[in-house]
Amino acid sequence: MNRILLFFLPVIFLFSCSSPKPPQVGIIPQPNSVEKKDGVFEINSSTLVYASHNPATMRVAKEFIDFIKKNYGLELKMTENKASDAIMFIRSQKKGVRKGFYQLQISRKKVKVISPNDAGVFYGMQTLKQLLTPVSYFKKPVLQCMEINDYPEFEWRGMMLDVSRHFFPKDSIKKLLDILAMHKMNKFHWHLTDGIGWRIQIDKYPLLTEKGAWRVPVPKDAPWKQYETCFKDDPRGAYGGYYTKEDIKEIVKYAAERYIDVIPEIEMPGHSEAALQCYPELQCVGEHNSGVYCAGNEQTFDFLQDVLYEVFDMFPSKFIHVGGDEVNKSHWLHCPRCRKRMQELGIKTGEELQSYFISRMEKFIHANGRKLIGWDEILEGGLPPRAAVMSWRGMKGGIEAARTGHYVVMTPGSPCYFDHSQGLSVFEPDSWGGNNPLMKVYDFYPVPKRLDIEGRRHILGGQANLWTEKIATWKHVEYMTLPRLSALAEVDWTNPAKKDRKQFIKNIDVQLDRFRELGYNYAESAFTPVAEVKYDKEKKVFVLTLHNELGLYDIRYTLDGTKPDINSTLYTGPVEFTKPIDLYAVCFRRGVQAGYPLIQQYTVAPSDKCSIEYKYPYSSSYSGGGDKALCDKKYAGMRGDDGHWQGFEKNDFDVVIDLGEPRDISYVALDFFQHLAATSVMLPLEVKIMISEDGRNYKTVFDEKYKTIKDYKPIIKKVEAKFPAQNAEYIHIIGKNRGTLPDWHIRKNTNAWLFVDEIMVK
Ligand code: ACM
Ligand code: ZN
Repeated sequence: MNRILLFFLPVIFLFSCSSPKPPQVGIIPQPNSVEKKDGVFEINSSTLVYASHNPATMRVAKEFIDFIKKNYGLELKMTENKASDAIMFIRSQKKGVRKGFYQLQISRKKVKVISPNDAGVFYGMQTLKQLLTPVSYFKKPVLQCMEINDYPEFEWRGMMLDVSRHFFPKDSIKKLLDILAMHKMNKFHWHLTDGIGWRIQIDKYPLLTEKGAWRVPVPKDAPWKQYETCFKDDPRGAYGGYYTKEDIKEIVKYAAERYIDVIPEIEMPGHSEAALQCYPELQCVGEHNSGVYCAGNEQTFDFLQDVLYEVFDMFPSKFIHVGGDEVNKSHWLHCPRCRKRMQELGIKTGEELQSYFISRMEKFIHANGRKLIGWDEILEGGLPPRAAVMSWRGMKGGIEAARTGHYVVMTPGSPCYFDHSQGLSVFEPDSWGGNNPLMKVYDFYPVPKRLDIEGRRHILGGQANLWTEKIATWKHVEYMTLPRLSALAEVDWTNPAKKDRKQFIKNIDVQLDRFRELGYNYAESAFTPVAEVKYDKEKKVFVLTLHNELGLYDIRYTLDGTKPDINSTLYTGPVEFTKPIDLYAVCFRRGVQAGYPLIQQYTVAPSDKCSIEYKYPYSSSYSGGGDKALCDKKYAGMRGDDGHWQGFEKNDFDVVIDLGEPRDISYVALDFFQHLAATSVMLPLEVKIMISEDGRNYKTVFDEKYKTIKDYKPIIKKVEAKFPAQNAEYIHIIGKNRGTLPDWHIRKNTNAWLFVDEIMVK
């Protein structure tokens, strides 16, 4: 992609008149109050900089001076004198404001950043930097006069990075901290240990990093590779490695200077293959590589406490994350030591034993002056009174914890998992889970409406999680993070009443140019054209519509499969067709391709005339490819993350298929999926199929109930209805969802899913 061209156009556009008015660059996250005023403040070589006499404020002033030098070539001098015309960074005495509050006053004579706390002065300077970037938009550094009063909505504005699955060196981590800082985010959750590698030096247990921080293979080539010079040139992420105590000290200090707390995560009792490979005696009796610490062995607790003593020394963070997710408790039930422990405690279930494990660690962490936080599974079997919860399996765990007085960080997989894709283009890099596009992140709010005031008080904020099973390079980390982190930053910082979708879309467009100037690799997925094709029964034509997620910029297309350029047909509205088409559509942002192309063929076969109406929508994370997924002739396979399954969480699968015209039919079939060992997907309890000529009067042609199949292997069940041929245009299919997973399921009591694919009609 040629991005160089981008530079010149906005400059010409914005400065074709001689007015000194600065360009409208917008701020992300949107401040809580902005009052624009007449006039401008122009920074020139005689502009002075003042800072209150404390090290933190002086550091902020210095960062600003460096920023002006780097971007505008001006060497600003400091002044000792608060009275002079200057840019002033002031730590005031004001009491009773939220941490992070700042005021930014820009008048013709002065610029003042004022805050009673160091973080606020720093955030004010971040805002000021945004008002002067992208540099390519400016001829000279000019600020519009205004007054901003700003403070964060949430005290936890976080992002997690998994450095176990792929290790990233400390300089990369610093880059992420810079990205967090520019977004006024303040928590870096560092997932330091997991199955693939142990990434933190522990003096008492040297094997952890000698043996447990191994290399992992780089993934094979994928279709998206053609698009990305951006992913392949940075192989460092693929190597094994670990952080020394010196590295960690450096990172923690670097973060603190940006008002970011580093929350270390040491996983227990599961996801611990790396540690157990080094110290196998900590596994249950007779186990090999189970990944679960033995809960009946005192050595386990000695080991973990020793590890945490060293962790406390390295990290000043109030919160210590202990994982707690996805523990396969069956190992404990077969272990004599664990069974003895359960007998002594008078408990019967693996969940209760996990609760014992976590409670014991909580007491230890509390006794050392810290607070325990863990994934929402730590609720099962009883949550220790002081523990905080990170809700990832939706918001349900978080709601339950908040209602019972626990502090909660909301990070539901949808939309907070940044390892999920940012769009459904086939050119997106291979990813896990589902689809979490930019605006879905923007529309998130960490506080569920269902909570009462007291419960709401316990929601600390929202967090993005970036798991790196599929992310081997640092460029790829940046790609998955940006621009979605900008959306999450606004979720966490801006009062929801002050959020403005339209304004954000304008601002994000500008933000991408800031990222480009900073050398960050960001996704343009939100520009990628998306097509919808419907059959118009009255006119007997197919209708193609095109859009992109942001509704910005021109989409140009051809229908003969040739690559469009900036002179190709501009999309202005629905396109009708009656013969097969070879669509090739591209979004042009200021003359340059933005996002991926959309290349897709459409036939005009009878099956394409079908449309499907859903009583309950399919999950956007498991869309199977959208409204046409069930009749796209693409058959889903034996994996839940096969992109062709369409998923329904908790609800029934309940659809009416309109064949587009009446036909004689005698056969309807469809597939359902189940994989107990790895997913929440189970087969339906019942399937009912009804047909109709007019869409009002239906006749049942199939109704079968099914017993639960308790088999841990993946299963595809074909449901086939054969009946005497009859004329019909509408088919109503209901697949009954059990709603909640049964007691014996590893994810018991959470929502059950139905996965459905390809409907065949003959
Ligand atoms: C998780 O995603 N297993 C917390
Ligand atoms: Zn055991």
